[in-house]
Amino acid sequence: MDRQILQKILEAGVRAPSGDNTQPWRFETANEYTQLDLFNLPEKDDSYYNYEQVASYVAHGAVIENIKIAARVLGFNAQVELFPNQTNTDHVARIKFIQTTPEPDPLYEAIFNRYTNRFPYERQELSGEDIENISNSVKSIADINAYFVHKPEAIKKLAKVLMVNDRIVFERRDIHRFLFDKIRWNTAQITSTNDGMPVDTLGLIAVEKLFFPLMRFWWLVNAANYLGLSHIIGLKCWNNCRKASLLGQITANRADKHGFVNAGSAMQRVWLEATKQGLAFQPIIGLPLLIYRSRQNALQALSDKHREIVEQSAKSISELFEIDQTETLIVGFRIGKGRSVSTRTQRMNASID
Ligand SMILES: Cc1cc2nc3c(=O)[nH]c(=O)nc-3n(C[C@H](O)[C@H](O)[C@H](O)COP(=O)(O)O)c2cc1C
Repeated sequence: MDRQILQKILEAGVRAPSGDNTQPWRFETANEYTQLDLFNLPEKDDSYYNYEQVASYVAHGAVIENIKIAARVLGFNAQVELFPNQTNTDHVARIKFIQTTPEPDPLYEAIFNRYTNRFPYERQELSGEDIENISNSVKSIADINAYFVHKPEAIKKLAKVLMVNDRIVFERRDIHRFLFDKIRWNTAQITSTNDGMPVDTLGLIAVEKLFFPLMRFWWLVNAANYLGLSHIIGLKCWNNCRKASLLGQITANRADKHGFVNAGSAMQRVWLEATKQGLAFQPIIGLPLLIYRSRQNALQALSDKHREIVEQSAKSISELFEIDQTETLIVGFRIGKGRSVSTRTQRMNASID
């Protein structure tokens, strides 16, 4: 394959979302650019959510989906083998490119237009056809299920459950630190790191933007929590979720690294389809990842209260989406009509040499 074609495929690959835009990936190429190896970089994301690298595997699933779509448009079939090396769990995929006829894919453009929209959306019913197209977008992904809720009553109930996603961030010093380490406050920081999240992507209204820089100080957040700060942050999440047109949950039949990568691919397809339809999307993944940790008996660091909240949320999410207990909750999200955001997160170059 021509080196420039692979470079173009990789440019699409790295547009993938990742936890707090950590971009935990690295690429190697072989056989005259017809083989691409995708590696995980565990040191990029040491957040509490990334237990056993599962958050990063979700991001890798999105990278793989972007690569498959771009390759097809550029005339190559991408054959993906997940975890080709039994002894190296950081070797996420080996991708072989087989030449074929270029095929247009309406999701290709969406790869470059997709972004996380954390602003409130305008509550609007989606047409049955739009919902069906979103739901159908994941059908090609193995061992994955996608659940959607669009009736206002059910959305309201779920919003109450999902609000703890953001509340816990402001009640745990380690999670709070990781988030604030990844916030980029000015253009110099944004362009020098090419990772993390510009403050303008966080969905803050003018008055919130005024106070938000103070929230980087844990002692202040901790003190303000006695006055209800974390609950107010939870309420903001609740308000955002209740205004969604669609709430969704992607689950995997297997609770292993394959399941997380495939769930990431499914998330990306839903996100691209929503983008194509001009809809806004925000992943809500912190909570399902805590639920996963809870199922692995690895939530010891959390307080009894937080553990109980996580367990209760797991039950409510499964009930409200009517998900079977045997499935692993991986990616939650909200979709709706949102105003567009001009500031975008950056990416590091995808070098292949
Ligand atoms: C595994 C994973 C978990 C994420 N969790 C959340 C989340 O809980 N809330 C949120 O607002 N964004 C979440 N995101 C979105 C990322 O922060 C976002 O993709 C990243 O900052 C890059 O920005 P972009 O999506 O606008 O390109 C998550 C993304 C991934 C892949």
